[in-house]
Amino acid sequence: MLEYESLSQLIRRRRSVRVYNPNQHISWDDLIRILEAAIWAPTASNQQELRFMIITDRQAINKMLSVKPLKNATAMILIFYDTTLQYYRDYKKSKVKHPLPYLDAGACSMNMLLAAESLGIHACWLNVVPSLKRPRDKRSSKLIVRIIHTLLEKLNHFFNLGYFTYGDLIYRKWLIPRKYQILTAIAFGYGKFIPDITKALHYGNPIMRKSVEEHIIKIYEM
Ligand SMILES: Cc1cc2nc3c(=O)[nH]c(=O)nc-3n(C[C@H](O)[C@H](O)[C@H](O)COP(=O)(O)O)c2cc1C
Repeated sequence: MLEYESLSQLIRRRRSVRVYNPNQHISWDDLIRILEAAIWAPTASNQQELRFMIITDRQAINKMLSVKPLKNATAMILIFYDTTLQYYRDYKKSKVKHPLPYLDAGACSMNMLLAAESLGIHACWLNVVPSLKRPRDKRSSKLIVRIIHTLLEKLNHFFNLGYFTYGDLIYRKWLIPRKYQILTAIAFGYGKFIPDITKALHYGNPIMRKSVEEHIIKIYEM
């Protein structure tokens, strides 16, 4: 019971923190602890297909977070999956499309958020916008798609629209092999401003959770 109490407290205490202290860096040991928690998450069919990229370069983080309401994150972990595993090759061909890698990334992300919280490190899970996705393989695209893509890239480069910047950064600048498909990302840092659960709103809605009863749609008893 004591274990449940501590875990429950940790779960409830964790907040999505978006403003961090720029001068407090996360140690490498702690980042490894967070990744250790990540790899112990369950994966569908035990595929263990998730792969990670750790970024502590401030410029790169700022560039990646330029479209997000986050300030001064000092580390980011990007989660990918290896699309070349046989299981996922078959899965691509199959008609039933369960979002298995996304579910696995979710379980893994939650482990990371809780591990971070237990270490006194704050974090925010980040929805990966389409621009973070693998850029289209130019060779396999139709001519018109290639032209539009190139045009958009040039426009982006010129006006710094931030649309293709992520993809460029991740796959081109950092030479990430295209066999790794990005799924999601988490930003980390030591929080400067921790939202107050009793007052904080997100898109106008309280982040305070309703009671368990209000979440249950049906109880089917023996
Ligand atoms: C899959 C997922 C994606 C999220 N993406 C973002 C995001 O892109 N930007 C952001 O500020 N928060 C993001 N969040 C955090 C949620 O906004 C946050 O969990 C919610 O407002 C509840 O607040 P809490 O985490 O403090 O309990 C994301 C959360 C999840 C689970």
